[in-house]
Amino acid sequence: MNGLHSTGWRNTLLKAAESHETPFFVLSRKRLQESMESFGRAVKSVFPGAKTCFSVKTNPHPSVLKEISRQGFGFEVASARELDLVKGFKAFKVFNGPCKTDKEVREALHQNAFIVLDSFSDLELVARVFGTHPPKSLDVGLRLNVGGKKFGFSLDQLALARAQCHEKGLNPVLLHVHPGTQESLEKYGAFLNDVVRVLEQDGDWKFIDFGGGFPDATALQESRHTLKEYVDLIQDRVGFLLKDKTAVFEPGRCMVSHSMALLCKVRHVKELNGIRFAVLDAGINVLQRSTLNRFQYRVLNESKGKKALVKLAGPTLMGFDELTTITAHINPKDWVVVENVGAYCTSMSWTLSYPLPKIVEVD
Ligand SMILES: Cc1ncc(COP(=O)(O)O)c(C=O)c1O
Repeated sequence: MNGLHSTGWRNTLLKAAESHETPFFVLSRKRLQESMESFGRAVKSVFPGAKTCFSVKTNPHPSVLKEISRQGFGFEVASARELDLVKGFKAFKVFNGPCKTDKEVREALHQNAFIVLDSFSDLELVARVFGTHPPKSLDVGLRLNVGGKKFGFSLDQLALARAQCHEKGLNPVLLHVHPGTQESLEKYGAFLNDVVRVLEQDGDWKFIDFGGGFPDATALQESRHTLKEYVDLIQDRVGFLLKDKTAVFEPGRCMVSHSMALLCKVRHVKELNGIRFAVLDAGINVLQRSTLNRFQYRVLNESKGKKALVKLAGPTLMGFDELTTITAHINPKDWVVVENVGAYCTSMSWTLSYPLPKIVEVD
């Protein structure tokens, strides 16, 4: 993984910084392509027939969606807005979400997306919108709750959900599970054990959709694991139950995290109670902690001089708008690069006091 120590990337950012007002996002087409190819390679080496559906909420930028399609992947969508974003792509699509509406279900049907039912009320809704077309039935997915949050059927509801589907002309052929996000290999293994328990109780599916959860490049580097190890673990734990089934994956952050950086500028350097602060023109408004990203901060054009500890703070009047502490020789007007902002940062940014930074595309 190339960071600022790569001269090519550093020069690209310097050129962008000289031509655009900060703060702005930089979307690297090369990094995007590399992340997608590396996921595709890891999956294909073990599950050549698997379907990969990019989780659109992670980064719905048109260039990201176009690259997904160019790589032959499909889409996982969760709302009318996301359905609208992918309507021009003919691809394998999965429509998830705990808050579906009639309009969304009609559009999902129109786009031939796999609708994943999350509850009995979802089942009623989809059956009603689909209507009755005997002897034709609609292939659907059932989401199974793993991890106890608000999503999916519990294991003991599964048999009843199946029976009600059949009564209403729905054909449950896809089992959907999702482990959470940025999962350690150990936790991912525990999730797979849960999947095995489900499949041993009810294995009558054509598709097993494992959801997302794969760590991004920085988290993998920290844990010294690879995507291939995650895919091998699936084969190791669940492979014996997958022989006549198609695996589906819904990666989000591992496809895009590394593809974007945020460029901001130091507007003020000040001291308070012996602490040095560099106030940047973007902060918590754009770099949400809830994204669970591993943000990395560097001064792009650091001049020679004595380095010292400095707290990087954002521009808002929020007391918690403090980002991190770095050791640097930092001055007003210096550019600071924040790496790993490709997942959720654009969609989860606040417009508190400042507009959303624009996105500049580079090769
Ligand atoms: C249903 C579903 N699929 C896929 C994803 C993408 O997960 P990740 O970004 O961890 O790959 C999410 C994210 O929360 C999700 O809720």
